[in-house]
Amino acid sequence: MKAVIYNGPRQVSVSNVPDARIEKPTDAVVRMTTTNICGSDLHMYEGRTNFEIGRVFGHENLGQVIEVGAAVDRIKKGDWVCLPFNIGCGFCENCERGLTGYCLTCNPGTAGAAYGFAGMGPFQGGQAEALRVPYADFNCLSLPKDAQEKEDDYVMLSDIFPTGWHATELAGVLPGETVAIYGAGPVGLMAAHSAIIKGASRVFVVDMHDDRLKLAESLGAIPVDMRRCDPVEELLGQTDGLGTDRGCECVGYQCCDRHGRETNSFTMNSLVKSTKATGGIGVIGVFIPEDPGASDTLAKEGKMAFDFGAFWFKGQHIRTGQANVKAYNRRLRNLIHVGKAKPSCIISHRLGLDEAPDAYKHFDARDKGWTKVVLKPGA
Ligand SMILES: NC(=O)c1ccc[n+]([C@@H]2O[C@H](COP(=O)([O-])OP(=O)(O)OC[C@H]3O[C@@H](n4cnc5c(N)ncnc54)[C@H](O)[C@@H]3O)[C@@H](O)[C@H]2O)c1
Ligand SMILES: [Zn+2]
Ligand SMILES: [Zn+2]
Repeated sequence: MKAVIYNGPRQVSVSNVPDARIEKPTDAVVRMTTTNICGSDLHMYEGRTNFEIGRVFGHENLGQVIEVGAAVDRIKKGDWVCLPFNIGCGFCENCERGLTGYCLTCNPGTAGAAYGFAGMGPFQGGQAEALRVPYADFNCLSLPKDAQEKEDDYVMLSDIFPTGWHATELAGVLPGETVAIYGAGPVGLMAAHSAIIKGASRVFVVDMHDDRLKLAESLGAIPVDMRRCDPVEELLGQTDGLGTDRGCECVGYQCCDRHGRETNSFTMNSLVKSTKATGGIGVIGVFIPEDPGASDTLAKEGKMAFDFGAFWFKGQHIRTGQANVKAYNRRLRNLIHVGKAKPSCIISHRLGLDEAPDAYKHFDARDKGWTKVVLKPGA
């Protein structure tokens, strides 16, 4: 089958790889019809992780089941399913508690497994014609009759919509509160969509790209352009100097300062300043334990100069980590089904698998108009 594989920093190709197949009786094989490129893929694409050469990318996957193993009961051939990016077993201590982003079974020795992801186990990604899904009964989210009609919405249940939602959960967003979101990439935009659905009174979204800020505005958020103003001062000014009730980090370790220089502490320290005393901060942007490609000495070791004193003094809380997609995906699916959520509104490009190498280039450069790419392997 054809798949998008990693050949080294900023090099991907569409190549032939062994077909996805049933390896354990609990597996299913899903024909991929929509599979997205994600900001998380870019950390790997840029060679800023230990992602292995020759591996297949893709953790935002939707398609139709073409084969199930002998021990699969619930899922049937022909079902339309969306796959959470994290792979859970369903029976370990963490999965039982709903923390499927930290499954202890699927990637022995580590908490957490995912498709086509650095450090998250040997699983191939879904930017391919087909995908092997372990523990299929547990991991497949069944889609309703409008699966194909709303395919571009439902595919966002694999990662960015639940992840954006998770950011607002970690921060503790309540109806009527003010929320600042750093990063207007797909995840930040989904955090804004989530905060608005939850009834936040005002949602601010900070970034430096016109097209992304415009999308934030179209979702009902207030754009804050960090090229034109100091985002912290702007947020304090908008909240009587107190700061927002909640803040979300949706950028990650490659965040930049106002001059576009990578500074891994920039968003975290901005959040401490722009969140009110006793406020909550949710961090879903990825930070990694080692970053040998960083220019900064602390960052190389996965550390940062964090304003802990200010954080402590303000009595804030921070919660972090991978989104436990299964904790939210059914309910978010229902919001899509009835038309109360429309995550596909951020899609800028729908392309064939063969166009992936070019798409990676543009999305990585944050080129104007490249906000979210969905690949259609069957097209
Ligand atoms: N925790 C999880 O489960 C999970 C899941 C998916 C993605 N992620 C992570 O979320 C992060 C965002 O993903 P994405 O797909 O939206 O990525 P992206 O790279 O497309 O978007 C990041 C945005 O942040 C902006 N930015 C850079 N520095 C900034 C700053 N100082 N202040 C405000 N904005 C700034 C960039 O201009 C860009 O638009 C990534 O780190 C990704 O790996 C985490
Ligand atoms: Zn993703
Ligand atoms: Zn588990």
